[in-house]
Amino acid sequence: MKVLVVGSGAREHALAWKLSQSPHVTKIYAAPGSDGIAAVAEPVAIKPDALNDLVSFAKEQKIDLTVVGPEDPLVNGIVDLFQRKNLRIFGPTAKAARLEGSKAYAKDVMSRHGIQTGGHKVYDKAEPAREYLNNCDYPVVIKADGLAAGKGVMICKTQEEAEAAIAESMVEKRFGEAGRRVLIEDFLQGEEVSVHAISDGHNILPLCLAQDHKPVGEGDTGENTGGMGTYSPLPQITDEQIAVLERDVVVQTIHAMNREGEPYKGTLFTGCMMTKQGPKVLEYNVRFGDPETQSIMMRMKGDLFEVLSATIDGKLDTVEVDWDPRSVVTVVLASGGYPRTYEKGYKIKGLDADFGPDVQVFHAGTKKVDGDWYTNGGRVMSVVALGSDLKDAREKAYAAVDKIHFDKMIYRKDIGFRGLRG
Ligand code: GLY
Repeated sequence: MKVLVVGSGAREHALAWKLSQSPHVTKIYAAPGSDGIAAVAEPVAIKPDALNDLVSFAKEQKIDLTVVGPEDPLVNGIVDLFQRKNLRIFGPTAKAARLEGSKAYAKDVMSRHGIQTGGHKVYDKAEPAREYLNNCDYPVVIKADGLAAGKGVMICKTQEEAEAAIAESMVEKRFGEAGRRVLIEDFLQGEEVSVHAISDGHNILPLCLAQDHKPVGEGDTGENTGGMGTYSPLPQITDEQIAVLERDVVVQTIHAMNREGEPYKGTLFTGCMMTKQGPKVLEYNVRFGDPETQSIMMRMKGDLFEVLSATIDGKLDTVEVDWDPRSVVTVVLASGGYPRTYEKGYKIKGLDADFGPDVQVFHAGTKKVDGDWYTNGGRVMSVVALGSDLKDAREKAYAAVDKIHFDKMIYRKDIGFRGLRG
């Protein structure tokens, strides 16, 4: 079977790596992929937003299954387009992908179906939004309604900060059309967890729980990024809490989408806050998380191709997946200045080191020139390690990180700290 992975980050590298282990898979392409992903998937020079070119490629190459990494093509209807051309693709339709594409839509679905989430208001104009800020409690969360490349969520500690966020989004249009409408949400206290599940619209396959570290600095300080590291499992979250997350969030959402007439097929990644009143949904994502996927794929025991294929066929109940009981830690190596401005082209040393069987390096912003590796983005790579427990996995991950070097390399040294607090 021939598989096409759409995207070029460490998440897509992890997906291609896992797919490459399937006996069903004979060839993997990645569009556009990267020199790093080339170890498992042949790069194809087509960008993820070139939907018609992706269709033509899939037709020409007789691709048996396509899986999409980033959210934009899903929200822009890649699944609908492939389906119209009788091409097999894993993911939600554009209508179902509005769960991520419009935060206001997601809130409407949650309120119609009694799914627990924080209180919120939606504004299309700046003036009433500013008025609301006179009377709300702080901190408050201001979110651009649409897709804003992970930058559209602003936690504002004071009214002044909130007014600046409204101006940035609605007046200065920092996020373009995506920030024309904003949500002002209650700030929820608790521990944030990443809940992944795959659904064929009826059956649900919960994936293992992970926790991301979004701010760039240790102790969750500094600007928010796409995620600086993850770990799984989470020792501080009980099996009972996981069962509640599955029942009250995942099952409820899949049921809600059926009731809405928009059955959800694909990966549903829900960001949840574990509050004192129980889990509350912070946001939905209609794709695999990055860097959650790097940890999840490392623990998955089973055939990812079979899972994706069975989802497309509505037969997810026919596949079995187990989870490695060991712990995984993923550390993201980034280029200094990320998530704002950073330089590219620094030589990367140490990638040829012997990392051992429990470590994988998934490439994101890297490039190979004349046999040497160079940085080629802000998120450069993910270093992933399995260990007997969280402490061991963390030690192995950082031992591997110590073997890699490039100028201005930054990474968080505290991935997994919440799980180790005891
Ligand atoms: N790690 C967060 C995300 O993928 O959106």
